[in-house]
Amino acid sequence: MAVTGRRENFWRNTPLPPVVEIRNVSNFVGQEVLIQGWLYNLRESGKLLFPLIRDGSGIIQGVVAKGAVPPEVFARVRDLTQESSLRVTGKVRADQRAPGGFELEVSDVDVLQLIPPDHPYPITPKEHGIEFLMDHRHLWLRSSRQRAILGVRHEIIKACRDFFDDRGFILVDTPIFTPAACEGTTTLFEVDYFEDKAYLTQSGQLYNEATAAAVGKTYCFGPTFRAEKSKTRRHLTEFWMIEPEVAFAHLDDAMVLGEELVAFVVRRVLERRRGELQTLERKVAPLEKCTPPFPRLSYDDAVKMLQEKGSEIQWGGDFGGGDETMLSESFDKPVLVHRYPAQVKAFYMAPDPARSEVALCVDMLAPEGYGEIIGGGERLADFDLLLRRIEEAKLPRQAFEWYLDLRRYGTVPHAGFGMGIERVVAWICGLEHVRETIPFPRMLHRLTP
Ligand code: 4AD
Ligand code: MG
Repeated sequence: MAVTGRRENFWRNTPLPPVVEIRNVSNFVGQEVLIQGWLYNLRESGKLLFPLIRDGSGIIQGVVAKGAVPPEVFARVRDLTQESSLRVTGKVRADQRAPGGFELEVSDVDVLQLIPPDHPYPITPKEHGIEFLMDHRHLWLRSSRQRAILGVRHEIIKACRDFFDDRGFILVDTPIFTPAACEGTTTLFEVDYFEDKAYLTQSGQLYNEATAAAVGKTYCFGPTFRAEKSKTRRHLTEFWMIEPEVAFAHLDDAMVLGEELVAFVVRRVLERRRGELQTLERKVAPLEKCTPPFPRLSYDDAVKMLQEKGSEIQWGGDFGGGDETMLSESFDKPVLVHRYPAQVKAFYMAPDPARSEVALCVDMLAPEGYGEIIGGGERLADFDLLLRRIEEAKLPRQAFEWYLDLRRYGTVPHAGFGMGIERVVAWICGLEHVRETIPFPRMLHRLTP
């Protein structure tokens, strides 16, 4: 299996055609171009060969007619195997019948690596089981479906950054090694840190609270870790979270910010990633409905709604996965559920001054049964109360001294939230499970590839 980088027509005394990405072929109709990619599929029909070529930016169908090319070129194309790497020269032709609307009239093919037929590419167009595909994730990513998901994920991340950047937020990166828990001690990953222990971050929030006092409006975006023992379609052990934090903001401000962010992201994907959504066979009508305002629902009313639908939930309990699904199927837009019982929420949540048993917090549940995509709210700004909550949660005070300083020196009301990128990708792409939303998922029983 020799790998050559040679371009066949290098030896010919003719100018080389331009290297063109498949996504741009519409600008080259009638011209000879060079496409660099891999064989996606090959169809044969009489004296015609139809190689499907992909290059990461798109897929184009080539046409090779026997007699129209030298016999060795025809034979080279006929013998191509799936995912063999190639450089293809040909003329771009607009053709309504071709997938994508363009075809390549192939004149020459330079094969960089021919995958031998007795050791073929492991993922064939036939159906494979999910565990097989997950074990071959490094190759599975080349499929049109996975490529489409990567494109939507990219767009969602870019849209989030544009949203905050355009509103004057400053991106401040928060650490991954941390000395203490943010979201409960049961899901902490502990790692050796020289003579000490450290934890992989569960959220950048506590640091965001420090930087919000420095820059006013901040956000962080990075990987976060949860030692989740649960095997659900919503949980990863490593996921990416975008977290804004705003000084002088209250719960309502966080709700409006979250609603504007999600509406912005959905609109952006609808504008720029129609092709990917089509590849994923995602119905866009439900996404088109996601315009502000989103409905608001108190935890109290949510419990009543769930009980009417037959849930076992009692006031004071947290929603299970089934409850979240039920709630999010009841609305055709994302819904903002606010004021959960303080006892089920983290230590840093501000209590409602009108009812101290509930916290000034909010979860946004995506529609169509997708469930929680955002969690956040207003933070406890009062020193004494915060110290009491840290002690009640049996958290080591020493590790939180710096955090308490934020309440010692110019404390102000402030609020923010975290949005899990993979949950949003799953919902917008219409996927069953978060495992397909991240290039290399990490889960309870999955650390490879
Ligand atoms: O609700 P969570 O735990 O909130 C926080 O971590 C806050 N400190 C964020 C903040 O206020 N700055 O997590 C926020 C979001 C969830 O709504 C969900 O979208 C996602 O992070 N998430 C997960 N995504 C995938 N797998 C998991 N195990 C997740 N846990 C949370
Ligand atoms: Mg949450």
